[in-house]
Amino acid sequence: MCGIVGYVGPRRATPILLEGLKRLEYRGYDSAGIAVGLAGSASEEGGAKGAPKASGNRLQVIKKIGKIAALRAVVPKDLPGDWGIGHTRWATHGGVTDANAHPHLDASGKIAVVHNGIIENYRPLREMLEKDGVRFASETDTEVIPNLIARYYEGDLEAAVKAALGHFEGTYGIAVIHADHPGLIVGARNGSPLVVGVGEGEMLLASDVTAMISHTRQVVYLNDGEVVVIEPSGYRTTGRDDRPVDKKVDQVTWELNNIEKGDYPCYMEKEIFEQPESIARALSGRIDRETASAKLGGLNLDKRRLREVGRVHVIAAGTSWHAGLVGAGLLESLARIPASAELASELRYRNPVVEKDSLWFAVSQSGETADTLYAMREIQRKGGTVLGVCNVVGSTIARESEGGVYVHSGPEIAVASTKAFTSQLAALYLFTLQQARMRDLSMEEGLRFIEALEAVPGAVKKVLGGRDELQRIAKKYSHATDFLFLGRGLMYPIALEGALKLKEISYIHAEGYASGEIKHGPIALVSPEVPSVFVVPDDGLREKTISNMREIKARGGPVIAIGVEGDGEVASIADDFFGVPKGDPRFYPFTMIVPLQLIAYFCALELGRDVDQPRNLAKSVTVE
Ligand code: F6R
Repeated sequence: MCGIVGYVGPRRATPILLEGLKRLEYRGYDSAGIAVGLAGSASEEGGAKGAPKASGNRLQVIKKIGKIAALRAVVPKDLPGDWGIGHTRWATHGGVTDANAHPHLDASGKIAVVHNGIIENYRPLREMLEKDGVRFASETDTEVIPNLIARYYEGDLEAAVKAALGHFEGTYGIAVIHADHPGLIVGARNGSPLVVGVGEGEMLLASDVTAMISHTRQVVYLNDGEVVVIEPSGYRTTGRDDRPVDKKVDQVTWELNNIEKGDYPCYMEKEIFEQPESIARALSGRIDRETASAKLGGLNLDKRRLREVGRVHVIAAGTSWHAGLVGAGLLESLARIPASAELASELRYRNPVVEKDSLWFAVSQSGETADTLYAMREIQRKGGTVLGVCNVVGSTIARESEGGVYVHSGPEIAVASTKAFTSQLAALYLFTLQQARMRDLSMEEGLRFIEALEAVPGAVKKVLGGRDELQRIAKKYSHATDFLFLGRGLMYPIALEGALKLKEISYIHAEGYASGEIKHGPIALVSPEVPSVFVVPDDGLREKTISNMREIKARGGPVIAIGVEGDGEVASIADDFFGVPKGDPRFYPFTMIVPLQLIAYFCALELGRDVDQPRNLAKSVTVE
């Protein structure tokens, strides 16, 4: 969703801000803008009380709907910018217009603000300010922020920001500059991430480390309720009550090339093809052959507590929820622990029962998804233990959970999640193994599970070798307007995920169903124009799924089957067949999702879609 970047230092701010915004593009946005401070000449007289001595400074704001390229086109080539802030906006309050794009200025034009999140009580604040004669230039909730700061400003920007923050209900990550405070940015966070980048004689502020990774790898993650002031010489963090807060400087471990496309045409293709390595990374150092179990030190739970887990709930959204459904299914069948995966957006408002022996997992690639975060806090409020399964290191969910597992997929830039999904599966499989080995899974069975788990990256690599065949299948069906995706058991969430991938990047309508459900309604949709994609492994449910395939064929529906190599019967029923390497059926979720990712990808390419940044979607959904 929205993105923030800010720069103070000796270099020209404008190109750094534009580069940062470009790197934030993947989050999804519909307009962008920058505000840069242009220093005037020094003056003898200071401004208001406490303000630095400067005169003639001004802020220049440039904003534009559309892509960063459209913004770049209207930014004067020689615009220096001695310090500044930038923003990518994903519209919530007010349409997609230049006026609604950020940064927003106060009425005097001296204070500029960029804001992620939503100020829920902006209406009464706006009415109050309007009564005082403030004229608003946009329809946004954000514009009340600079105007309220202006109301409190008496020469100390930080103090004015803190005073204004006391009025806001809702969520925010903000960056604020003032024309009379060259080289200074005030940032504040409440529910929307903000990270400080510590450079040599320069400092950055952003909502996401990707915006500043080309300048520094030293970062400081802010917590809710914290305010930061950055200047070229350093930063200081305080609470809103002015109490100093000591922060740890973290080192970003991934490389710049992790967020570049390399030779791939799209991030999504790159990320699909990275899966053999990303799954291996998720497993690395976490398998203990001696005990035939998994080592997950980050869970921060002692053995007794782990053994006493009576029920597991996964809280997640979208693709992460699908990973949770697979994980819950496996936990029940292998570790014999009752388990379920809950949609975070539903759970939060359901007044959930939190049993003493339950363990909750918040599964989230970004670690910032508002639905998942709020549901997690609700569970914690009721005394539940929540562990995180996150990809983004230092993300809010990772930091607010009692412990957890990082999945280490590396930055996922394409909006549609692919490699994070299979890494989330890897983490949940490891947890299942650990739980099963603490209960009644034998050493021998544990070792067999480990062997199969370690074989996954190689099997996924083989599936990726089928790229051209999957492209052929995708081309053949890409002009269909509706698809069904069907599977049973562990393949049901895979069918859901296949349908989600197709709809979000190709905009083809797709429904995922449990195969057994089609006769209860969806079969009415079957026609020669509606392809059905079956995920049909050689497990105990194969015969049942084959019957469902025949039901579709009997009604003239085309069938694409993702099955197991050499399964002649499935291949003979299907119009098109793709086989994954034969293996332990419990591990087919890893291999069978890959052809579905590629079919979705090639359909989207065929239709000329913007694969990496599909319309209306955001990478990190930080509003409810
Ligand atoms: C689909 C997709 C979304 C996310 C969902 C949760 O490709 O990316 O459905 O899975 O928004 O996001 P995270 O995992 O960041 O919590």
